[in-house]
Amino acid sequence: MQEKLAALASEARQEMGRADSPEAVEALRVKYLGKKGLLAGVLGGMGKLPPDERRGLGEVANRVKAELEGLLAEAVARAEEAALQAELSGTAVDVTLPGRVLRPGRRHPVSRTMEEITQVFRRLGFEVAAGPEIELDFYNFEALNLPKDHPARDMQDTFYVDSRWLAAPPSGPVLLRTHTSPVQVRSMLSSRPPVRVICPGRVYRRDSDVTHTPMFHQVEGLLVDVDVSFAELKGTLDAFVKAFFGAATQVRLRPSFFPFTEPSAEVDITCTACGGKGCRICKQTGWLEVLGAGMVHPNVLTAGGVDASRYTGFAFGLGVERITMLRYGLDDLRSLFENDPRFLEQF
Ligand code: DAH
Repeated sequence: MQEKLAALASEARQEMGRADSPEAVEALRVKYLGKKGLLAGVLGGMGKLPPDERRGLGEVANRVKAELEGLLAEAVARAEEAALQAELSGTAVDVTLPGRVLRPGRRHPVSRTMEEITQVFRRLGFEVAAGPEIELDFYNFEALNLPKDHPARDMQDTFYVDSRWLAAPPSGPVLLRTHTSPVQVRSMLSSRPPVRVICPGRVYRRDSDVTHTPMFHQVEGLLVDVDVSFAELKGTLDAFVKAFFGAATQVRLRPSFFPFTEPSAEVDITCTACGGKGCRICKQTGWLEVLGAGMVHPNVLTAGGVDASRYTGFAFGLGVERITMLRYGLDDLRSLFENDPRFLEQF
């Protein structure tokens, strides 16, 4: 009997040393210490022994039982620790990592400039209009007095869109608008004079260098009414420039050419960096070119369904990125579209 108990104890020691999961340990507890376990089985034979042999045996049996319980407790602790380690290494939680900081966003400098320009014109009585960025050749060129094969189309390198897959392909080419001027024609067609609209939006050209990106923004303006003169164009632009760049800013108009206006002008302002004295930004001229403008060509009024013998109008278009660069003193236009928070956070 004594030998049986000793053999049982040594077998249990070995098995419990190897148990590596809480389930395995529990199985061993049942096997050795359970009601029908091995220890109970050995002790079950005790009743048949003579009393003097039984006495010594009880002591041994209790020692073996205590030892087995101790071994079990150790095995449980080991198995639980192993299970925890496995879980931690699986999910790779590094509690020493710093927390994630939520960085509040802000308006992009181009959006801010565009909104502020729009606000100034709203105060002058202009309404905001919008048109599609995927545009018909008709609105982008033809209706703006730029017929097919007109050399002035070369001024705007264009992305054409394959429209053959459309259920009802439009007649004529489809393209990404190269300027916001097509909204002029759309606005005239969808209302009656007086028309006073401002149209901020995205435009696209096949261009890419330090001062050009394939996508950029423009703000278009159009006013059509009776007796609209060049003086009103000049007065409106002067009011805008003084409101946006500061009351001391001067405006200068230079003769220019656009197919959709006649006469046409290039609009300069006194340099925002040196105030007109001459510096690196204005290439020592004291002036910066900021927009194009002119009196709406009669052909454009006609394309917009407006009686060109009764009405006149003026229009202008400006590049938002260029104005943003002047305003914040940026020298690479592309930095506006790299979406680097270290750059954008400065505005
Ligand atoms: N659409 C011209 C461009 O993208 C800018 C422009 C010039 C718009 C004169 C006008 C205008 O409305 O009158 O270069």
